[in-house]
Amino acid sequence: MKPHVITFLAPKGGAGRTTAVMALASAIVDTGSYRPLVIDASREIAGCRRGSTLSIWHRMMQRCGVKEDQIEYRQAATREELARIIQAEADKGPLMRSPVLIDTSARLDDLDLAAADHADVILSPFMDALAAQRISVALDPLDVRAPIYGLRCGHAFDDSQARAVSAAFTVGRLLQHGLPESEILSEISIGGHVPHMCMKFAIEPQGEPLASRIPSLRPIYAMQSELRKLVNEVMLALDGYELRPRHPKARRHPLPLHKLAELLPT
Ligand SMILES: Nc1ncnc2c1ncn2[C@@H]1O[C@H](COP(=O)(O)OP(=O)(O)OP(=O)(O)O)[C@@H](O)[C@H]1O
Ligand SMILES: [Mg+2]
Repeated sequence: MKPHVITFLAPKGGAGRTTAVMALASAIVDTGSYRPLVIDASREIAGCRRGSTLSIWHRMMQRCGVKEDQIEYRQAATREELARIIQAEADKGPLMRSPVLIDTSARLDDLDLAAADHADVILSPFMDALAAQRISVALDPLDVRAPIYGLRCGHAFDDSQARAVSAAFTVGRLLQHGLPESEILSEISIGGHVPHMCMKFAIEPQGEPLASRIPSLRPIYAMQSELRKLVNEVMLALDGYELRPRHPKARRHPLPLHKLAELLPT
């Protein structure tokens, strides 16, 4: 039985793909109901001795006490390797039907397209309206089976960007929930598991009275709660509840840059 595949596809450097994979996988582990398989198809490892961001994060997850039967991490460098990993997951049978999360590169090359072909849902993270517009232009010509959902990350999730972002992301629908700008998320590759990081943040710094720390803790807990809601939304999308076919509905054309400029906050 084919596992549910979520492909993180946003052909732009620094779009937020890897952070979104780590945040979502960590939140999925936190549900206690699924064992995500994270496939690193970013090929980021070349030239980096310590390994890719995802491999470092995976080691940190284990240091945070996440066991091998709670998350799996694999790397794929070719289309064939990717297919083999997904097939091996399928061969484990229906009991192991946990989501597969695939991180891709910014290039939109053969492996990225193969990852898009395997997807049941494509998530396109972006950090601002301009990135949403660029990603829409790049993905618009692709003929992919899976629905594409825009994932608002960082400042793209701020209310002030709402109009510009929704006009700029033309290649699919926007997810209702997102990944707000957060210290925890910007540190996640070296922090590991989100609940563990939040606990650490709440306990440290030592000696400071809790009341004075509440303002800084509030956005952390708001982010954690948003992340849980995002997992639920993505799981619903994977189960087909929120999936709405884009055809025969005509696609809107990507928004021209000069029109986007009019919508951006000054
Ligand atoms: N919600 C967030 N809050 C704070 N920082 C974030 C958030 N999402 C992403 N970032 C930061 O944005 C930067 C780019 O994110 P990331 O590395 O995940 O993007 P990417 O698409 O994987 O980039 P690359 O093209 O290098 O693979 C990183 O420094 C990351 O820490
Ligand atoms: Mg990356």
